[in-house]
Amino acid sequence: MSVRTIGVVMNGVTGRMGYRQHLVRSVLAINEQGGVTLSDGSRVKLKPVLVGRNADKLADIAAKHEIADFTTDLDAALAADDNLIYFDAQVTSARVKAVLKAIEAGKHIYAEKPTAESTQEAIALAEAATAKGVKNGVVQDKLFLPGLLKLKRLIDGGFFGRILSVRGEFGYWVFEGDWQEAQRPSWNYRAEDGGGIVLDMFPHWHYVMENLFGRVTSVYAQAVTHIPARVDEQGREYPATADDAAYGIFELEGGIVAQINSSWTVRVNRDELVEFQVDGTHGSAVAGLRNCRVQHRSATPKPVWNPDLPATARFRDGWQEVPDNAEFDNGFKIQWEAFVRHVLEDAPFSNDFASGARGVQLAELGLRSNAEGRRIEVPGL
Ligand SMILES: NC(=O)c1ccc[n+]([C@@H]2O[C@H](COP(=O)([O-])OP(=O)(O)OC[C@H]3O[C@@H](n4cnc5c(N)ncnc54)[C@H](O)[C@@H]3O)[C@@H](O)[C@H]2O)c1
Repeated sequence: MSVRTIGVVMNGVTGRMGYRQHLVRSVLAINEQGGVTLSDGSRVKLKPVLVGRNADKLADIAAKHEIADFTTDLDAALAADDNLIYFDAQVTSARVKAVLKAIEAGKHIYAEKPTAESTQEAIALAEAATAKGVKNGVVQDKLFLPGLLKLKRLIDGGFFGRILSVRGEFGYWVFEGDWQEAQRPSWNYRAEDGGGIVLDMFPHWHYVMENLFGRVTSVYAQAVTHIPARVDEQGREYPATADDAAYGIFELEGGIVAQINSSWTVRVNRDELVEFQVDGTHGSAVAGLRNCRVQHRSATPKPVWNPDLPATARFRDGWQEVPDNAEFDNGFKIQWEAFVRHVLEDAPFSNDFASGARGVQLAELGLRSNAEGRRIEVPGL
């Protein structure tokens, strides 16, 4: 069977996500496995063209992975006809300008979330891509986490009966940078640079809720900057102008209430860095990144509130592990393969710019809810 190669312009590969998850774990991993297999059995390899602001950093990455093409000239990379796809994992604030340019050049676009900093811009991107007739996709990696795939399997199998509520806990302590280096880039803590946990995480929670449980109809959020000053990569103190924790309540169609805490100022006392508890009339589940535990109504204990007696029941022992029953590949890579098939043979791909815009909208309305101190309806987009 034939092997075809297509060029993929990758902007932002010196960053955490662009390098590790998209270049190394997705594009290079796809090539190592022989390419993306299309429906006719033929294979497609991806030729990365690295784009960024710093030629030395790009040269280092290119040399390390034997990549031939790198440039600081985005226009030149977009001008080459065999570069079919433009991928963007830059800081969020740099995304819209570059993506619009790539759309104008007729490239199919795949981008990290959030697609923009405002709903208006996110919609404009979706409209521009549609008007130009280019395929468009946004990274929605959490949908491919083994824990959430197991949760989806439970939902599809009718395990929960009627789903009542979802409780999500996401986060960990991000060091302030003074006595221990921060483990996340400093722009995340500056609103003026596109930072903030609402803008970062609500787009994720949006596609998780929409794909697993139903459309989000309202949001109430309290966004807080718990740590007012941090220390950046150069060791300089800066004012943290962006929210570092968000306490959100979302209403979903069907009457489901989802309550999700997102925090970079929390110390982890759970099994995984993100966990969702879903309670339904017939059963409950707690899903994390990899694992998922369930308790069926038939195995539900009957606790009686009595603070005079010590708790004897070990509640967590009454839950059962959901088996893998499948091999789980890297979620970023699975989505890359799906997007390549979408571009080349029109295979379905629902994680488009329109869904990306709904995620940005939820973040924007979450911030408005916080500013106005009230619950906000989410209009359909
Ligand atoms: N899907 C996910 O789970 C996930 C996780 C983290 C971040 N992200 C998203 O990925 C994007 C990149 O995040 P990251 O954590 O990799 O960030 P990062 O700071 O590690 O990387 C940012 C990249 O953007 C480039 N860049 C372009 N213009 C810039 C500018 N003006 N200032 C600073 N850098 C600039 C940098 O050179 C670098 O390559 C963000 O949009 C973020 O929301 C997604």
